[in-house]
This record gives sequence, C-alpha cells and structure tokens, in this order.
Amino acid sequence: MLSKIGSLLSKASTITLFMGVIFSIIFWQVSYKEQQNREKIRFDALAQEIKSTIISRMQAYQQILQDGEGMFYASDSVERKEWEEYVKQIKLGSVFKGIHGLSYVKVVRKNEKDSFVGHIRKEIKNFQIKPDGDRDVYAVVTYIAPSNEKNLKVLGLDNYAESIRREGIDRAIKSGEVALSGKVQIIQNETEKSENGFLMIAPIYKKGYELKSESDRYSAIDGFVTSAFRTKELLEDVLGSRYDGMLSFELYDTVSTGRANLLYGDDYDTSYLPSFFVEEQIEIGGRLWTLRFKPLPSFFVELDHNSPNYIFAGCLLLSLLIFTLVLQMEHTRQKASNIAAEMSNELLLEEQALKKALEFQKVLFENNAVAFILMSPQRIIEKVNNEFCNLLGYEQEELVGQSPKMIHISDSSFLGWAPVFEEVKADKEVANIEYPLKRKNGEIIWCDFYGTTITFDNDTKGVLWSILNITKQKQLQKELEESNKEIKHMNEHLLDLVSKETARRAEKEQMLVQQSKMAMMGEMIGAIAHQWRQPLNSLAINIQDVVMAKQFEELTKEYLNAFKNDSMKIIQTMSKTIDDFRNFFSPDKQKESFSVEGAVKETLRILKAQLDSYEITAKFEYTDENYFVGYKNELKQVLLNLIANAKDAILFSGSEHKLISISVIANTKEIIIMIEDTGGGIDENIINRIFEPYFTTKEQGLGTGIGLYMSREIIQRHMHGKLEASNVEFGALFVITLPIIDSEDRSKES
Ligand SMILES: Nc1ncnc2c1ncn2[C@@H]1O[C@H](COP(=O)(O)OP(=O)(O)OP(=O)(O)O)[C@@H](O)[C@H]1O
Ligand SMILES: [Mg+2]
Repeated sequence: MLSKIGSLLSKASTITLFMGVIFSIIFWQVSYKEQQNREKIRFDALAQEIKSTIISRMQAYQQILQDGEGMFYASDSVERKEWEEYVKQIKLGSVFKGIHGLSYVKVVRKNEKDSFVGHIRKEIKNFQIKPDGDRDVYAVVTYIAPSNEKNLKVLGLDNYAESIRREGIDRAIKSGEVALSGKVQIIQNETEKSENGFLMIAPIYKKGYELKSESDRYSAIDGFVTSAFRTKELLEDVLGSRYDGMLSFELYDTVSTGRANLLYGDDYDTSYLPSFFVEEQIEIGGRLWTLRFKPLPSFFVELDHNSPNYIFAGCLLLSLLIFTLVLQMEHTRQKASNIAAEMSNELLLEEQALKKALEFQKVLFENNAVAFILMSPQRIIEKVNNEFCNLLGYEQEELVGQSPKMIHISDSSFLGWAPVFEEVKADKEVANIEYPLKRKNGEIIWCDFYGTTITFDNDTKGVLWSILNITKQKQLQKELEESNKEIKHMNEHLLDLVSKETARRAEKEQMLVQQSKMAMMGEMIGAIAHQWRQPLNSLAINIQDVVMAKQFEELTKEYLNAFKNDSMKIIQTMSKTIDDFRNFFSPDKQKESFSVEGAVKETLRILKAQLDSYEITAKFEYTDENYFVGYKNELKQVLLNLIANAKDAILFSGSEHKLISISVIANTKEIIIMIEDTGGGIDENIINRIFEPYFTTKEQGLGTGIGLYMSREIIQRHMHGKLEASNVEFGALFVITLPIIDSEDRSKES
C-alpha cells in the first residue's frame, strides 16, 4: 500500500505539492507581514494623531500660563482679585480639563519671609508657608484660582521645598521658558488618593533686570505662574472616547519607561501582549516625555485577520488542485507509458509470433507432404516446395521463373488448364481436379489439384496449387473397377448358388422330415409288433388246437365254429390296431381345437403294449382337460418321440425302477406338458447338443438323431411353443410349453 502511494507520489507531483505548500506558507507569511505593516501604519497614524493632539493641548496650556505671566509683566502688581478674574475668564476645568487651578507662586528669599507672610496674612489670616522650616528660598503658592476649597488647601505650599518641583522651577528660571516638572503626586485632600501629575511652570522676572546669564535670572526671578496637572484627567480629556478599546496608551516622564516614571496608563497588564507597539518622544517645557501606544484587540477588528489564513488556505487548495492535476497527469502519463510498454511488448510478441508463423509457414510450405506450386498473375512459376520438386523430379531452380508448360503432358493440356487458372484467380474455389502432369523423366503422373487465390503485393492475384499424387489411387481405382466387374460377375453366379443351396436345404429338410417319418414308422412298427404279439400267439394256439382236435378226432362242427368265431375276434382286434396306427399317422388336414390330455392318452394307448412288454409303467396325471388349437397329430408325434426316448433311456440304463410320468398343468396363458423318466438323465456334456439334427448316442440302426430336432421344430415353428430338456433326480425331464392365447389368435387368423 505504502509503496503504491510512494509510487503514486512520484517526483513531479511531490515537488509540486512541496512547492505548493512552501509558496502557500510564503504567501501566508507575506500577506501576514503585509497586513501587520498596514496595521502598523494605521496604528502609527493613530499614534501620531494622539501625539499631535497632546502637543497642541500642551501648547494651549503653555499659552494660558504665558498669558498669566503677561498679566504680571503688564502691571506693577497683580492683586488676588485680578488673578481670580483672569482665571474665571479662561474657564478652567470646563474647557481645559485636567487643570484644576492656576497659581501664582511667589519667590520668597530667606530675609523676605516674615514680611511676606505678614503681608499675606492681611488677606488670609492663617496663611503660612508649608512645610515649615527655614530655607534660603521659597516658592510659595500665593494666589490660586478658582478659589475653591480644594485649591485653597494648596495655598502657602513651598514648591521649592520638594526636589522634583524644585528641579522644574530651576529649569524654568534658567531657561526663562515655560517648564514642566518631573512626575509628582498631586494631593487634593487627606481622604483622596494622590494622583500622578506634573507642574507647568512659567517664570516671571523682575522688571528691569538683566537676564543674560543663569545667575542674572536667579537674581531677577520674582515668581511663577504654575499649574498642576493630573495626567489621568488631562489625557482622558485629550484622548476622549474615540480610542476606547482600540489602543492602550502609556505616558512616561523622560525616556526611561520604568514604572517609577509612569505618568499615565497601565504598563503591567501582561494578559495582553500585542504583536507591536509604537513609542514616540515629545519635548514639552524642557521635559522629554515618552508616549507608548499599544494596539488593543478591537483595533484589529476592522481588518480581516483571517485573510492571510484565507490566502494560505486558498494557496494550499490551489496547490492541492495543481498537485492532484499533476498527479492525475502523471497517472495518465504512467498509464499511457504502461499501455505503450504493453503495446510494444504485445507488438514484440506479435512480431515474434509473426516471425514464428512465417517460419512455421515456410517449414509447412517447404516440408509439406503436399506438393505446392505458386503461380504468378502472369501464370509463371513463382515458388515450388520440396515435395513438388520430388513429385516432378526437378530442382527448384529449374522450375522457378519458368512457364508451367514444361510440366504439362502436352501443349493442348497446358492450354486446356488456362481457364481453370483464371477461375481460381477470380476467387472461385476450385477443388479436386484430377489432371495428369509430366515428370522430368517423361513419366506421366496423375494429380489432384486444389487451387486458392493468392493476393500479391501490387494487389494482383495469383494462384497457389496444392497437389497430391494420386497415381497410385488411380491404379487402385482401375484395379477396383476390374474387381468390381469380377464381383458383379460373381454376384450373378452367387444368386444361382443361393437358389441351388436353398433347394438343397429344402431337399435336406424334406429328407429330415422323411427320415423322421421313417423313424416314426420304425417306432410304430415296433409298437404294432408288440400289439400284435399277443393276438398272433392266441391265433397260433387256436390253430394248434384245431390241428390237435383233428388228430384226436374231436374236430366237430361246433368246435370249428367256436374256433372261427374266436379267431375272427382276434383278427378284428388286430385289424383295429392297424386302423389306430393308420389314424395316428394320417396328417391333419387343418388346424382344430383338440384336448391335449386326449392326445397324451392316444399316444399312450399306441405305446401301451410295447411299454408293458418292457415292464415300464406309464403314469399320466392331469386335473382338467385343456384345449389347444393346432394339428393334433403333430403333438402326438412329439409325444411319441419323447416317450420313445424315455423308454430307450430306461432300457439302456438298465434301471430297475421303470417309470414314465406324464403330467399336464395349465394356467390362463399356457399349457405345460412334462415328461419325466427314470432313465438316468442326459450326460451334461451333450445336453446342449441333443436338439441338433442327427445327434444321437445310440448305435447305428437304433437311432438317427432327428427325433428331438423334429420335435422342437414342430413345437417352435408350428405351435409357437417351447421344448426344453433338463435332468431331474432319476432321469430326464422334457417340458413342452404351449401358449394358449397365441394359439387361439392364430386360429382366428387362419
Ligand atoms: N429321455 C432321455 N434320456 C436320456 N437321453 C435321452 C433322452 N431322450 C433323448 N436322449 C438323448 O438324445 C439323443 C437324441 O435323441 P433323438 O430322439 O433326437 O435321437 P435318437 O433317439 O437317438 O434317434 P431317433 O432319431 O430314432 O429318435 C439320444 O440319442 C439320447 O442320447
Ligand atoms: Mg429318439
């Protein structure tokens, strides 16, 4: 984060900000100084104004004193009354504030003291010089006007007795001018606090005296017109209320501004320290006064003190603005340079990619398994790749810059190709054109052409041909065509073969059926033989009986009749047996609904004599009669096959327990006939093969191996059922499943 800020505040913006702050401070300082200067000048003017007011006021007072002085020079003696009149006229206290009385101070030398006091006491009874004591010279307040109670208390005061007043008096004598004393305490009465003040002293010399030197003046001095000033009252009058709150003013006696010299003002208020003050010196009555003016806060109110701050804030704001601008510019510049760098980087990468692509293209062109030839707009060979050279057996130098005529098989071929070339030039896609070319060695090869338009520098168009050698394909194609012819020929023969094979198969099938029938016949003949054995025996016995009867001459007519009847019965039984067998055999004309149980019973009846002769028990179990639509004799043929096999198995196995169990069960969908024997079952190795035609385990002459094959054919093909074999505990189990619904539907169809 910091590094980010650091990088953001890069050189130029940092310098701008820094300079901005510096300039802001400088402007602030300059404007602050400038404002201070302006304030100082304004304040100076104020100070000068006050100073000249003070001077002119003091000059006015001097004038008053000098006027009083003039009174004494104008007449021989000035009486108390006259003095009072004069003072009354100048309206002390009302026009000229700060001055409470105007005194005439008489210089009394040591030897004149008593006569003086005596003289005054004529007017003022208790008059006496204060303070008491003998001194060489006295300067005694003799008249004071207005003659109010306060003023009268000063009467008789020896101003020369006190050092500061005396110094003022001495200076007035020496200079002959109006002089001011140093700082004195003006006491009005005992109760009131003394106040800071000074005396103004105007000397009056005796008339006719030389006044050249100081000693002349000391000798000639007669008295003074004096006035005591309370500085507070005086200056408050001079300054008025105009400057209230604007400035504080201090007045010091002399140039030294110590507390002891403070005539007016408050120099020890340290709660407020102004930024500057003004000091002025004035000389009044031979005395140097120091005037100190300090501006008070309200003096500055008129001015807008905050303007430097506003300037500072403004400058700062401006610099911040400039800084932001510069920063923004820098940022933009940085961004631009970044973009430029990125772009140049991208450009570099693109250039590299282009270079690579070009290299790749070159490699692709040069080393491609496809032959390339680039034709100029004028149909001149511009470029060829290695594969093209290999294809046609030329070197690149032999081809480039040449007319392609040399690679065409003939002039007419070259001319014939021209329209194709123009088509590709006109941006038409031309693909898979097969055309022959001539190799350098004269060999003709077949090529597959694919043409693309190529724009050259001067916006003209040429053609890039990609060429594949298809000579081999062509050969293969030829071969293929030949073999196709052969196949066609073979196909024609094949049909012949198939029909022959079909006929052969049909013949075979027919043979199988025939054989099956033969086998059946064998079974039947076996069965007939067993059926006839017993009646034949009976006939033979009967015939022997007849022969014996003839020998013993017992042959009577009755005997012959009985013999005839008995024999005829036997022959009839035999004849019926033949009919039964014939019926059993006769093929069904059409499908009919027949009882499955009935079919089982009929089959068992045919085989009964045979089974009995072998002591084989045939057990037949069923609950109800179930009807099936189909050819009854076909099912009987199957049953005969299965029961005959069971009998064979029982006999071959030599089993003592000789039982063939037949049962029929049915549900709504199918009728199931199960034939189980005790013949030891079928070997697991051959159980999968027993339904194959001609598969038999029986010796030649005893079995053909088509019984089960035919049985399954009948059940599956004619009756749409299933015939399956499996082994059970004592022998084999054959299950016939006949679908009822199917049989009914099919009967409807038929
Ligand atoms: N119930 C059975 N128990 C054991 N083996 C049997 C049984 N039925 C058939 N086989 C076996 O299946 C074979 C094939 O029977 P199939 O009936 O097709 O021919 P075959 O009986 O041998 O001759 P034929 O053509 O005279 O019937 C028999 O040779 C026998 O090995
Ligand atoms: Mg058989």
